[in-house]
Amino acid sequence: MPQKRLDPFVNAATTLDATVNPYVGMLREATASGALPLACGPTLAGLKGQWRQHIAAYHGLQTPAKRLIVEIGCYKGQTLLDLTKAFPDTAFIGIDITFKRVVTTAQRLTAHGVKNGFCAMANATLIDQLFAPDELDGCLIFFPDPWIRKAKQAKHRLVGPQFCERLYSRLAAAGFCWLKTDHLPYFERANEALAQASFSRLPASAPELLGSDFSSVFEQRFHSQQLPTFGSKWLKSEIN
Ligand SMILES: C[S@@+](CC[C@H](N)C(=O)[O-])C[C@H]1O[C@@H](n2cnc3c(N)ncnc32)[C@H](O)[C@@H]1O
Repeated sequence: MPQKRLDPFVNAATTLDATVNPYVGMLREATASGALPLACGPTLAGLKGQWRQHIAAYHGLQTPAKRLIVEIGCYKGQTLLDLTKAFPDTAFIGIDITFKRVVTTAQRLTAHGVKNGFCAMANATLIDQLFAPDELDGCLIFFPDPWIRKAKQAKHRLVGPQFCERLYSRLAAAGFCWLKTDHLPYFERANEALAQASFSRLPASAPELLGSDFSSVFEQRFHSQQLPTFGSKWLKSEIN
């Protein structure tokens, strides 16, 4: 049951039946009690520009993290967990549009005692409403839904010209965007959109952005079926 609405500040959990989807009730309860590192709906509006402070305060830390990185489409949190463990001094936010995935991700972070992670249930299309200018140091988009069942569905793809411009405006000067997908036509279009938005592409030979490949669940699925995947890494600043 995804959050299809573009407006990230609408709380879909208030209108849906928790008996149909138990994760609706879990999200409602967790956000009201603060039991999980999870936010949705109107609360997100107040976090714009305040994410680092909020994540530190939620976890009882005195000092906000120096870096803030978002993973869009965090699924059930495996990559986010790997990232939080690899970089304890960086704050990470996982965003997803389904109740089950964000609740599962937040539960996973909590179960592992993670102090530098948080989740948001939101459609990331309007990323500029979720984050302030320059607030982000990086953005990972691994295997965004390619919308391929019908040709007209391609309009739902996240990584297009407008999204790339919005993301660019939210990244700090040295910020990055890391894209992975199995779908070559989407990959090519997304790369065009990133380049048009003034991102600079890192050469394939460049060192890993975060020191490691951080293979995702979908990536592992494709590789286990011997299917090819594609990746590109982009910087906001020009490469000298
Ligand atoms: C194909 S899965 C990939 C999951 C994970 N990144 C991986 O590589 O294993 C795409 C994920 O993106 C989420 N998603 C799709 N559209 C989104 C949007 N507009 N905003 C945030 N998340 C979205 C889906 O719910 C799903 O969890």
